[in-house]
Amino acid sequence: MVVDDKPASTFRYNEAPVYTTSNGCPVESSQKYQRVANGPLLLQDFHLIDLLAHFDRERIPERVVHAKGAGAYGEFTVTHDISDITSIDMLTGVGKKTPLVARFSTVGGEKGSADTARDPRGFSLKFYTQEGNWDWVFNNTPVFFIRDPTLFPVFIHTQKRNPQTNLKDATMFWDYLSTHQESVHQVMTLFSDRGTPYSFRHMNGYSGHTYKFTKPDGSFVYVQIHLKTDQGIKTFNNEEAAKMASDNPDWNTQDLFEAIQRGEYPSWTVYVQVLTPEQAEKFRWNIFDLTKVWPHGDVPLRPVGKFTLNRNVENYFAEIEQVAFSPSHMVPGVEPSADPVLQSRLFSYPDTQRHRLGVNYQQIPVNAPLKAFNPFQRDGFMAVNGNYGANPAYPSSYRKLTFPSVSPAAAHERWVGGRVTNDLFSEVTDEDFVQANGLWEVLGRQPGQQDNFVHNVAVHLCGAHVDTRERTYQMFTRVNATLGARIREETEKNVKN
Ligand code: HEM
Repeated sequence: MVVDDKPASTFRYNEAPVYTTSNGCPVESSQKYQRVANGPLLLQDFHLIDLLAHFDRERIPERVVHAKGAGAYGEFTVTHDISDITSIDMLTGVGKKTPLVARFSTVGGEKGSADTARDPRGFSLKFYTQEGNWDWVFNNTPVFFIRDPTLFPVFIHTQKRNPQTNLKDATMFWDYLSTHQESVHQVMTLFSDRGTPYSFRHMNGYSGHTYKFTKPDGSFVYVQIHLKTDQGIKTFNNEEAAKMASDNPDWNTQDLFEAIQRGEYPSWTVYVQVLTPEQAEKFRWNIFDLTKVWPHGDVPLRPVGKFTLNRNVENYFAEIEQVAFSPSHMVPGVEPSADPVLQSRLFSYPDTQRHRLGVNYQQIPVNAPLKAFNPFQRDGFMAVNGNYGANPAYPSSYRKLTFPSVSPAAAHERWVGGRVTNDLFSEVTDEDFVQANGLWEVLGRQPGQQDNFVHNVAVHLCGAHVDTRERTYQMFTRVNATLGARIREETEKNVKN
């Protein structure tokens, strides 16, 4: 890739560093190797063995989901005073700036898969705040497929490859969705043209989950966070996305890198939706149900700030492949809600990162907070930050630590317990189709979007087994009778016998 007259990389062109082995020994030639005259190679050739052995170990496990992605650095700025609802340091003080790293991704495909696949997009931000790293691990859709965490691994299996054929499998895909119809709201989003964004720069991000903003006096509010693209929403239709997948599978990666390289810095405006505990108790929708939105008419968006991506990484592997986001990377003033999917994610991300990157993954420069001091976490593979030197590895009488006062845990337990444990989350009721039908009506107000939706489902569903197709028609009929009939008609036209 060439931008102006220089390659896009930012190494120093005019330097000629001395080439060495990994232990720093200068090497006469990077290409030569040692061997007996016209004979086999020598075990003493550390340069060659060092090179090959390192190459043999280049790959680390790819992310189990969201394997394909791209990212960049940027900056968040507070634009509005929201001190009435939060004490979070990063959000306090109009004009305050916080550096960040972002990563966008598709979900189901492998590391080499096409950027324009029909899939939700991941939208992750890591803010390097004065009180620790705060990660927003969001998607470009305001809802999700599941509200029961036990379903995540099995749901993901249905979106990946069939265990026998190793192929994507339309029957498996729709078999899951049509037997777990709480997914229908997310399916409506995914099969609209929003399921194939034109680029990472042209999509929104959403927390999806409910979080709590707490204050030192023990009060709190429930919030959802929205990131609205300042570039405007732009999407591909099904055929444009498929063509781009073959013409340029890395299109979104290229688009982001080159836009930043040109100085066209993409930005997003950050909003919160806010409910007091009392409002949450009376709210029509269960605020811990990830398959539902808080309608804007009921809960308006409140502006908070803006962030801009303005710097490309120097090294993709070091800074993007190794970046480790987690919803459990939080800062004082924010707490997870009782949403069971969110609660499970708090565990799952650091757990996979200890596997993917190693137990000291927080020491990798892109993950390291501005300051951290926990000398009780010792040793382990790749303890590269000095391992806390001579500091005692236990609470020693001879080396005091300072413990800041923390706000009392914001409690709402009695009501929360009722909402989370007494509701049988997976039981699907008519209520689950209301917002899905709302989305169908929204598509009806945008020229051609209902037609595209029906087409997008039909060309995918037509590959599924007849029983699965039938159950899926019934699911869409429950959203809206006209929608169900149209999907049936269009899908059956596409079935190849
Ligand atoms: C129980 C539900 C879920 C589980 C167990 C789960 C698990 C995971 C795991 C294991 C990864 C790989 C992380 C890594 O290797 O660094 C991942 C990535 C990701 N997940 Fe989830 N996930 C869940 C639901 C969600 C939801 C609801 C969202 C969005 C609201 C989401 C957004 C993301 C994003 C954006 C990434 C990519 C992070 C990156 O860019 O590195 N996930 N998830």
